This record gives sequence, C-alpha cells and structure tokens, in this order.
Amino acid sequence: MSATPVKILGLSGSYGLTSKKLGAEIHIWDLVEKPLPLVGAEGSWQDANVKEFQALATECDGYILTSPEYHGTMSGVMKNTLDWVYKDHVGGKAFGLMSTLGGISNSNTLNHMRIAVRWIHGWCVPEQVAVGKVKEAFDDDNNLTDTDVAERVVGLAQSVVKAAIMLRDNKE
Ligand SMILES: Cc1cc2nc3c(=O)[nH]c(=O)nc-3n(C[C@H](O)[C@H](O)[C@H](O)COP(=O)(O)O)c2cc1C
Repeated sequence: MSATPVKILGLSGSYGLTSKKLGAEIHIWDLVEKPLPLVGAEGSWQDANVKEFQALATECDGYILTSPEYHGTMSGVMKNTLDWVYKDHVGGKAFGLMSTLGGISNSNTLNHMRIAVRWIHGWCVPEQVAVGKVKEAFDDDNNLTDTDVAERVVGLAQSVVKAAIMLRDNKE
C-alpha cells in the first residue's frame, strides 16, 4: 500500500460552510469564495472556477458530500456541483454521504445523492449520516450534541478514507 496521504474533497450543498477535521489531507471547495455557475449558463463551459474545481476533483481520491434536504431531496446547489464532475474526474473513487434536515431525519437526500454518484461512476461507502433537526444539532463550538450521531460521522469519514486508499492503490 502506498504511503502517499489520501486526498479527500469535501463538498457542501449550501453556501454557509464550516469545515470539520476528518483525518486525511482535506480539501474543501468553498462556494462563497469560488462559486460554480449553473451548468449551461452563458460562459459556464469556459468558467475558470469550473476548470479549477474539475482539476481538484481529479486530483482527489475520495469525496464527502453534505447536502441540506430541500423539498425532499438534495439542494440545487449540490446537484449543480455534482453536474460539474464526470467519470473522468471522479470515476472509481470513494464517496461518503451526509445530509441535514430541518425536520426529523430520513434517507431521501442520501438516496438521491447515491443515485447521482452512481451516474458519475463513484463508489459510495455503505455508511451514511442524516442529521435531523439541524438547528438544534450543534453546540456553540459547532460540535454535534448527539454523541451517537457524532460517532456515525467519524465512522463515515474513516470508511471513506479506507475505501479511497483501497480503490486508489488497486487501480488496474
Ligand atoms: C427551500 C428549502 C426547502 C427545505 N425543505 C426541507 C425538507 O424537505 N425537509 C426538511 O426536513 N427540511 C427542509 N428544509 C430545511 C433545511 O433542510 C435545513 O434548514 C437545512 O438542512 C439547513 O441547511 P442550510 O442552512 O445549509 O440550508 C428546507 C429549507 C429550505 C430553504
């Protein structure tokens, strides 16, 4: 197994971004700093942020997606972010999925992201986390108050790192 640190890219389906430590070389795409245009908007195919985003996605070995649930599915922002990457950038690499909800947790957004990831030839790890009642879920230091949920997030991150290394180091 290669000793090169695994690179994980964190992608958020909303503009407010708080990064969390995940235990690998972490890159976070900040949509406030570098917005991605809507796919197909005038000039979008030549957009410098898009090209940089695709290059970073290609360089990374795994991805953690976090989307708020909007009207029972992933946010438009998350879908548009995923629409900018293809098999050439992310195919054969590991993905982990998280969602946040204003109401009680369910798996809709997670299931819908899992389908989108399949279409770009990504490998989703089986672990996933939905954080319900998100407004009450974090303390003042941005830590999850429910220790079971916090443990699931750690388990998810560990699984993505493990899968990313396995897939990277066993390419044909
Ligand atoms: C347009 C919109 C639609 C939403 N739809 C849902 C929903 O279907 N189910 C739910 O539990 N929460 C829903 N919410 C609440 C968000 O999921 C919640 O506020 C979100 O996870 C917080 O993330 P954000 O502040 O990054 O958007 C919705 C919020 C917005 C703005």
